[in-house]
Amino acid sequence: MAELIGTVHFEKRDDVALLTIDNPPVNPLSTGVTYWMAMHLEAAIADDDIKAIVITGAGRAFIAGADIRNFGKTLPADLPKPSKSAGEWMESSPKPIVAAINGTAFGGGLENALMCHYRVIKPGAEVGLPEVKLGILPGGGGTQRLPRLIGAENALIPMLTGDPFPTEEALRLGIVDELIEDDDFVDGAIRYARRLVSQNEGPRRIRDMTHWTSKDRERPEIFTSGEDFVAARMRGQFNGEQIVECARAAVMSESFDAGIAEERRRSGLVQAHSQRAAMVHAFFAERRARKIPDIDRDTPTVAIQSAATVGGGLMGGGIAMCFANVGIPVKILEVDQAGLDRGLETIEKNYASQVRRGRLAQADMDARMALISGTLDYQAIGSADVVVEAVFENLDLKKQIFSKLDGVMKDGAILATNTSGLDVDQMAAETKRPEKVVGTHFFSPANVMRLLEVVRGEKTDDQTVATAMALGKTIDKVCALSTNAPGFIGNRMIGGYTQEAQALILSGATPWQVDQVVYDFGFNMGPFRMSDLVGLDLYWRAHKLAGGTLETASRTSKVSFKLCEMDRFGQKSGRGYYIYDERRRATPDPEVETIIRETAAELGVNQRPVDDEEVLKRCLYPLVNIGAQLLDDGVALRASDIDIVYCYGYGFPKHLGGPMYWANDLGLDVVVRDMQRFAEEYGDHWRPAPLLTRLAEAGDGFEVLTSS
Ligand code: NAI
Repeated sequence: MAELIGTVHFEKRDDVALLTIDNPPVNPLSTGVTYWMAMHLEAAIADDDIKAIVITGAGRAFIAGADIRNFGKTLPADLPKPSKSAGEWMESSPKPIVAAINGTAFGGGLENALMCHYRVIKPGAEVGLPEVKLGILPGGGGTQRLPRLIGAENALIPMLTGDPFPTEEALRLGIVDELIEDDDFVDGAIRYARRLVSQNEGPRRIRDMTHWTSKDRERPEIFTSGEDFVAARMRGQFNGEQIVECARAAVMSESFDAGIAEERRRSGLVQAHSQRAAMVHAFFAERRARKIPDIDRDTPTVAIQSAATVGGGLMGGGIAMCFANVGIPVKILEVDQAGLDRGLETIEKNYASQVRRGRLAQADMDARMALISGTLDYQAIGSADVVVEAVFENLDLKKQIFSKLDGVMKDGAILATNTSGLDVDQMAAETKRPEKVVGTHFFSPANVMRLLEVVRGEKTDDQTVATAMALGKTIDKVCALSTNAPGFIGNRMIGGYTQEAQALILSGATPWQVDQVVYDFGFNMGPFRMSDLVGLDLYWRAHKLAGGTLETASRTSKVSFKLCEMDRFGQKSGRGYYIYDERRRATPDPEVETIIRETAAELGVNQRPVDDEEVLKRCLYPLVNIGAQLLDDGVALRASDIDIVYCYGYGFPKHLGGPMYWANDLGLDVVVRDMQRFAEEYGDHWRPAPLLTRLAEAGDGFEVLTSS
């Protein structure tokens, strides 16, 4: 007999029925929970002594989502069937039902609480609808009841981000009715239920509420702002579009049931969509990436209560903000007063712009600024628990800095470098404590971008790696571990991508075509817009400094260097591949097409039209091929880590799972066959990495995650 997973305890507390959900550790919805909930509700409703019902969770959660062990399970055949589902009993009960939210109420947890007639909450408990993150939508009535309860405007963006509502926010918006601060939360909730009974407050069903829907019908702009949010932050993500439509249905449908039917229909569409599995993979990949197989989970970490950065430029300043944002005091060490003033001013401007856009309270900005201070003196940073070096990308300079840091930092401090790809071991070798040296590669802007590549040097000890990973979590980063190889994971991969983009324009594609294809795929920006943004001159100046000329430039650098020689450095000079107006809008420039044509002719390349499919494959396959090589070389731990690096650091659309997931989905046999064809046509750099060939030949693929 199939066993029921989880249960619900039924206790009579005089005139109140207390139902306690029990499915450790976080009470996800399961066969046993929904079955016993229905049976007990029926019994409680039928019992004349009972005047009200309180539903709560055992332990630290109310209900956190659905139990994955439950999927596809049916009830044992010999059990008496409940005459209505738990949800139907909740909503239709003639006796008031109070959801006593004792802890996390996510997904189905909040949806069940919304089927109850009243909600009370324990301090610190959070509620939310995170379904969007798993590629689905709140299909248990969530998209219909939440907008009815708190208005579509308050409900929509949280359903699109999946972010939880903290207790105070849930109270303020009216998701919950009362905060119960009693030592015994359940006693407090029961007292609340009795008060309802004594005041003759009967069932109050969200399905019958019209306060917000009648208002929201007059405000269609709410949905436009939802659409704008999807366009700006989740372009191409199918479930985002569907959530907006469900919220619209909640407001516009002629009845609650019609809205529910629409939610069910759209929920079916997202369940069946190919993006769903990709997003499940990305979701679990993020969690998996935190686990380092050879480091014990319980490895003690260094408590980080103070921090420092060396360098307060673009990255150093952003990194300092990351610390201040979570209340960690941070000192910025600069080379001179002017550098320091510039750095602190930029930070202040960044915060002020967040305040202007309503994203940060002035008081919070003041508190954060108060945590950031500057110094020119190494002694002043010696007591910090962690120091992150973020000076110019120059190994000799970085080595000098590490030698100085070794002299001043206290014992046990973590010495980190934000290098984009230089040799961390050489920096560590300048110290007498190489085991405390680690790479922490942030992405720009550091206070915004979620990725943190943690780079383990040859001698970095477990505690230092574990501390860097834990610190990443504290400052709200998504971490992935790399070994100390040139360019680590991400920059090594992007090198292949940008080079192939250059090769593509020599083949006959235009920069605008390449950018459009990559944009349509889901990246925010194609490689040429990105080069213009970063500045074409960085690489050109380095080449010239090393004595290089146009003649000695590589084939794939020539067009870019020619543009630089014409003072076309990108956005900053108003021209690069594109021409930019004062509002930074980009227009393709025919002159650039001429330069490309001439360069191709000089290099003996016969140009021809390149179709969009080839453009996409030639842009993305290098990521897959280099990714596979990194796995073979042990630089990256797992294919899913590579997906995380690319989604969070380089804008690969998360709803497509990451480059390795994407390749899998396409079929590694297809990828390898295409690459072999490209190798014939464009050269040996297209030879598939051994791991790719091995997997394709075995009919195998990279690991796809379906759970944690
Ligand atoms: P930046 O030029 O904006 O800032 C460097 C800062 O270091 C300057 O303010 C400079 O005054 C200061 N500095 C130079 N020598 C110093 C010394 N001896 N002592 C103290 N301060 C000194 O450069 P950015 O972009 O912030 O880059 C810093 C590091 O971060 C580099 O290693 C870079 O490769 C890396 N990085 C840069 C990213 C980016 O997108 N810009 C992304 C990820 C890493």
